[in-house]
Amino acid sequence: MILAGNWKMNKTNEQAKFFVNKLVQDLAGMGFQIVLCPPFVFLSDIAEILKGSNLHLGAQNCYYEKSGAFTGEISPLMLKELGVKYVIIGHSERRHIFGETDEMINKKIKAVLNSGMKPIICIGETKEEREKGLTFCVVESQLRQALFGLNRDDIDQIVIAYEPVWAIGTGIVAKPNQAQEVHKFIRELLEQLYDQESAQKVPILYGGSIKPDNFFGLMVQPDIDGGLVGGASLDDQFIELAKIISGLI
Ligand code: PGA
Repeated sequence: MILAGNWKMNKTNEQAKFFVNKLVQDLAGMGFQIVLCPPFVFLSDIAEILKGSNLHLGAQNCYYEKSGAFTGEISPLMLKELGVKYVIIGHSERRHIFGETDEMINKKIKAVLNSGMKPIICIGETKEEREKGLTFCVVESQLRQALFGLNRDDIDQIVIAYEPVWAIGTGIVAKPNQAQEVHKFIRELLEQLYDQESAQKVPILYGGSIKPDNFFGLMVQPDIDGGLVGGASLDDQFIELAKIISGLI
């Protein structure tokens, strides 16, 4: 199980440090992967606070080149050096606001893996696509393109996050059975592309309007292996979510 918090573009550095110090205390000893993905500029300070704790550092994005003339971008090597373990790639806000294509996302995933970190690969359909009955088609296409050129060893290092776009930041959470059927579909696609053993090992997280009152029902589904949380990762709700997972393992 993995609980990952995607802070997006929120908090000041002081607020970030204060909150992380609290999380380190309140989440101490929890026996599953807890990942904090703050904005880039807080990573270095937060890395210091997380030293010796059971919490892991994640980033929200990165570029796919090691270095060079790419104004405003951050390289995977820079993240690795700071102690980052996970990098969110292909979040729907990156796809829709910043125009990231499946091809760029595939390059970023490879760059993250080559730098020895784990990509959290985000996929999911829009409201319109769901209404047209295209959910499985979109998810399959995004996943196939994301994983293009990745071998079995690579697959052992990835995390997938199913985040229906219509559920992100809207307060409309997917019903547990709605999420489970897509997660099962993703698992079966991984089996087809690789093998059963590898497919079973890939954590598939759900994301989109997770809150303490809807989390349990999602987490008990057989193919849901954790959550990628936006809004509820910014305050004490994150601690409640962690306690829910803790009670399940
Ligand atoms: P939300 O965001 O929990 O605020 O809906 C989830 C995400 O974008 O990862």
